[in-house]
Amino acid sequence: MDVTDDVPGFAGFNLIEPSDYAARGYPHPLFTKLRREQPVFRWERTQGPPFWAITKYDDLVAIGKDPARFLNGPRIVLQNKPEVEDLFPKTLIQMDPPKHTDYRKAVSKRFTPGKMRHLHADIEKIATEIIDGLLARGLESECDFVHEVSAPLPIAVIGWMLGVPKADWPLLFDWTNRTIGATDPDFQTPGKDSRESSMEAMAELFTYFTHLVAEKRRNPTDDLVSVFAHLEVNGEPIPEIDVLTWCLIIVVAGNETTRNATSGGLLAFVENPEQMRRVQQNPALLPSAVEEIVRWTSPIIHFARTATEDVELRGRKIRKGDVLGLFYPSANRDEEIFEDPFNFRVDRSPNRHIGFGVGEHYCLGAHVARLELEMVFKHLLPRFAEIELAGPVTRLHSALVGGVKSLPIRYRLHANR
Ligand code: HEM
Repeated sequence: MDVTDDVPGFAGFNLIEPSDYAARGYPHPLFTKLRREQPVFRWERTQGPPFWAITKYDDLVAIGKDPARFLNGPRIVLQNKPEVEDLFPKTLIQMDPPKHTDYRKAVSKRFTPGKMRHLHADIEKIATEIIDGLLARGLESECDFVHEVSAPLPIAVIGWMLGVPKADWPLLFDWTNRTIGATDPDFQTPGKDSRESSMEAMAELFTYFTHLVAEKRRNPTDDLVSVFAHLEVNGEPIPEIDVLTWCLIIVVAGNETTRNATSGGLLAFVENPEQMRRVQQNPALLPSAVEEIVRWTSPIIHFARTATEDVELRGRKIRKGDVLGLFYPSANRDEEIFEDPFNFRVDRSPNRHIGFGVGEHYCLGAHVARLELEMVFKHLLPRFAEIELAGPVTRLHSALVGGVKSLPIRYRLHANR
């Protein structure tokens, strides 16, 4: 019997099959069953060796904090394909200590809450420009929220932080879609598969940033590309390829994720209007609402780790070289950690979600993402008198990021705010 057979709505669901997420969304009833009955489950792939599906919060935390026994390097994404190492070049997220620790330390001061406070006004300006564009459509209107707000905001913030000229921001959008979204047929180059399409986009991105890095070496400015162009680790300039992979990871890590937290957050408010009213009446709830949005949406579906030695986990014997899939949306609904996990509650406290990961690879851009989400909902929610879905939500073909491709909404604004 298949573990999914008796799971309503998710019979036959494959945890690493992109099209299953597009068709059915997150398989929460299946995750619940796995957490309850088989939290360390040997999952057979349609192609390639089995992997261990890890679904309990405490296990994700323990593994995330043990980079010596669980590596990111060999591969971080699971596919129904014969197992291969991730191709060179490797970005920060595919490095392991000590290189990872050194590289991360070299830039982490650019991403601290203190640094973010400096960026507060700039990010708020970017967010209000985008939201003003939406609100200018009139007191009653319809739009695709992804197209109008969720997608442009992170592109603008990342483009601006990197120091990419505004005219080139659409390129960042295109490259993100074609790398992170490469498993979606809409984002593949005709005649090419997901791997070839994403390699093609990556090559374009590297060519572009090779020129920008050279320009920032000649004329440094206060942006991330200038930082990467001059980055030294242990007193030595980093190799040119690593300068480019820094640019790549910032472009791809911060876009699709924040886009989907924003879309999923709005959807949560549409489905839970009383929670929207609570934030409207008490804006001091915004920071906890943002945390709840990240827990609720858990935009990253999984990342993988590879065991460096034999390990026993909840009585299961994991062998050296075995691959583990960490399922963040499951951990963030773990009933042993979260009270009432299947309710969206803007005042949830404590909220120890791991939507931004945990341990060695904890999201470098978490404060940027929080600020973006706070700015969107700070400026949007007070204006909404009513909001509802105006059509079906379409989802990305991806087992990596739980993407919303379109979110049609119909809304009425308060006239006097
Ligand atoms: C809601 C939005 C976001 C979510 C849910 C998210 C989620 C995550 C997760 C789960 C990881 C951990 C990876 C692992 O354990 O292997 C991660 C890492 C990372 N994220 Fe984010 N992220 C978001 C936004 C951003 C933004 C805006 C940026 C950049 C400005 C960013 C840059 C990174 C980088 C560079 C890493 C790698 C860190 C490392 O390997 O040390 N992320 N993110």
